[in-house]
Amino acid sequence: MNQLDGKVAVVTGAAQGIGLGIARALLSAGAAVVISDVNGTEGERVVAELVATDGRVAFCQTDVADDSAVANLIEFAVVHFGRLDIVVNNAGVVAVQTVEEASVADWDRVMAVNVRSIFLTPKYALPHLRRAGGGAILNVASVSSFFGQQHTPAYVASKGAALMLTKSLAVDYGPEHIRVNALCPGITDTPCCAIMRGHG
Ligand SMILES: NC(=O)c1ccc[n+]([C@@H]2O[C@H](COP(=O)([O-])OP(=O)(O)OC[C@H]3O[C@@H](n4cnc5c(N)ncnc54)[C@H](O)[C@@H]3O)[C@@H](O)[C@H]2O)c1
Repeated sequence: MNQLDGKVAVVTGAAQGIGLGIARALLSAGAAVVISDVNGTEGERVVAELVATDGRVAFCQTDVADDSAVANLIEFAVVHFGRLDIVVNNAGVVAVQTVEEASVADWDRVMAVNVRSIFLTPKYALPHLRRAGGGAILNVASVSSFFGQQHTPAYVASKGAALMLTKSLAVDYGPEHIRVNALCPGITDTPCCAIMRGHG
């Protein structure tokens, strides 16, 4: 008997890096997992590999900044696996640009992927978590939620916001047995980290 047998999880940005690691860990613990990513090619490839060893996995291509795409993702998980217990908001982007270099569109994109997503997934997932009797939302923030770092103002601002949004959701939904936590990794060797190298 595994700890998460019978539970269903959605992990965003899970085609590679930290999200893929979290998806693998959830599968190992017994959960069924919807791997979601904006990168359809890589997402399909990863799921084809995982499904060969474990049937409890499916892919749903999603841009987490897109309202209707996130609604579709949550619906997909519930239709595919029958319930929803865990949402991991892992998808994130970094832009190595000072405020002088970044356009308004650059700023908006980082904030939409890193923060709006954490507003959207609970919006659609909460009724299902409630129906399941409770659940968990894990938001991947960053050490940058606490400290400034060079040449990444939008990223640092977005991770600060992700942390405070997590705290707000935690006090709103904790009484309903829906735990909301933030994971704040330090430097982790992933494809994203390669972009950040030299800007810490
Ligand atoms: N790697 C680090 O050192 C580090 C440190 C602290 C926090 N983090 C955070 O951890 C999370 C994962 O980071 P990582 O290093 O694994 O990154 P990564 O770039 O290796 O992987 C991110 C994944 O998110 C997907 N993605 C990007 N935009 C998306 C969108 N709009 N919709 C859906 N998916 C999208 C990408 O396709 C990719 O598969 C991010 O939120 C990142 O900010 C990373």
